[in-house]
Order: sequence, then structure tokens, then C-alpha cells
Amino acid sequence: MLPFASLTSSRQLTPDIISGLFVAIDNMATIVAEQGTSTLLQDKVVALLFFEPSSRTMLSFQSAAQRLKAGTIFAQSASTTSFEKGESLEDLIQIVNGYADIIVMRHSQPGSAEVAAQVSDAPFINAGDGGNEHPTQSIIDSYTIHKHRGRLDNLNVVFGFDSLQSRSIHSLSRLLAQYEGNRFTFTGPQELWPSSELLSELRAAGAQCDCVSEVDYRDNFDVVYVNRLQEERFADTTLFEANRRKYRITRDNIEGCDALLLDPLPRIDEIATEVDALENAVYFKQASYGVPVRMALLALLLGKINL
Ligand code: CP
Repeated sequence: MLPFASLTSSRQLTPDIISGLFVAIDNMATIVAEQGTSTLLQDKVVALLFFEPSSRTMLSFQSAAQRLKAGTIFAQSASTTSFEKGESLEDLIQIVNGYADIIVMRHSQPGSAEVAAQVSDAPFINAGDGGNEHPTQSIIDSYTIHKHRGRLDNLNVVFGFDSLQSRSIHSLSRLLAQYEGNRFTFTGPQELWPSSELLSELRAAGAQCDCVSEVDYRDNFDVVYVNRLQEERFADTTLFEANRRKYRITRDNIEGCDALLLDPLPRIDEIATEVDALENAVYFKQASYGVPVRMALLALLLGKINL
């Protein structure tokens, strides 16, 4: 069980909940390593509603469900559902409540997850709502940082390069701001620095926040977390085109940096492939944690395990 029925924002992920989740995630990783599967969710059906493209989130939720022997039902684009005929999100969610025991949804509209969760009788998981939040990604990211750096407090973190529109940056910074002593440096084009609302929220939670056009990665950083410029969210593509290859991690500029290098992916231009071989470049490992993380979340929200 979790102390909430639906996960829509990383604001819900307090340090106590994260500690309990990490134990559950480790247990799920052991199931995968030692047995491959478990029958824990054999009596459950998981609805995977992905109205925006996804590789990692959709496939790892599907893998997580299959590892726990749950059935799955899918909607893989808005155009193949009755949204196309004008059905509302609220109606669709109430219909899916009759077909599945838990709903996972990705949607292009910020705030759609909250709307869906409010009308859903079944537990609901936000798998990304536009440029707003991606709370399950923030669990993967914090789990990766904890596994490879041993703590989530007193971290000096760089976030780049589209902190305005990256839901993964929003969710991870909100999660980490709940821990003591964290300092965030947001870098990238000034137009893509975080909103003043997000900066105020993070500072009010206790995080020190700075925004800069450039960083020297050899400074004393613990984590460098980058995400592609979110091309699909630009009202003006000129800004995207002008900056897409300007902000980029390469062997040259990362030389001498031993910070953990994270990226929720997909990678477009933000990290050169030559960086992949570095020991601190753990973004593929980070993506692999998506399966035990989502196994734990499904089992907890369906009441099959406790924190
Ligand atoms: N990290 C992430 O959300 O990737 P996808 O968009 O491929 O799911």
C-alpha cells in the first residue's frame, strides 16, 4: 500500500515514501534476477493508455506487468480511440475503470493526470502529462542517484538543457528539493530556464537554485542531469533550431568531471555517443531500473505489498 491511491506528482514522494519504495524496488529487482517472474498480480489487469509517444515508459510498464503476471490492455494513440469522435478524458477513464484494476496514462495536456485521477475509481499513475510532471521517472532517477552515489541529500546537481519544458526535470527537482542541503544549477538557453513558479517552489522547499548559461562540468558537481530540448513543446521552432546542438555533453567538455551523468532519454543531441563509454555515464543503466521501479509501483498501488 501507499498513502495515496493515485500518483500524479513527485510532490507526493516524500523522503519516507522514497525510502520504503527503494526497499520494494530492490525486492522486485531480486525477483527479476532470481526467478524472472512472480504471480503477485496474476488476478489483475493493467490499462496502459499512451496518448503521446513513448518507448521506455510504455515498454517498462508492460514488462513490469508481465513480470508480475498481470494482464494488460492498451490504447497506443489518441487517434485510435474514441477521443477521435470527441469523447472526453473523464468519460474514457470511467469506462476503463470497468476494464482494468489500475490505469497508467501518458497524455500531452499538462494537468490531464490530475483530471483523470479525480474521476478514476481505480488507482491511477501519471506516466507523463505534457510538460508538467513525470513522477515515475523521478523515482527511477532518484533510485539511480542513490544506488550510485549513496545519498539523496547534500547533492550539487546540474540540470540542463530545457528546464522550462522537461517534465522529468520538474519531477526530479521537486523530489530532491524535499531533502536537506541540495543545490541545483539550471543551465541552458535563458529562455529555457525553469519558470519563476518552479524556482519559487524549489527555494521554498529549501533547495538553493541558480540559473546560468554555461557551466564548467569540472566544478564540484555530484550529478549532471540532462534532457533533450523538448522539440514538440516549442511554440517557436527557431529557438529550438538555434540551440539544439549548442548545448551538448561531449568528451571534451566532460573531461575531468566525475559527476554521475544521467539522462531520462530519448537522447537526441544533448549527449555525444562518445560519452557513453565513460564509467560515470549511467543513463542506459538508469533506463533499465524502469522495470523494477514500475513493478514495485504496480504492486504497491494494487495493495499487494506494503511499504
Ligand atoms: N524517459 C521517458 O519517459 O522515455 P519515453 O518517452 O521513451 O517513455
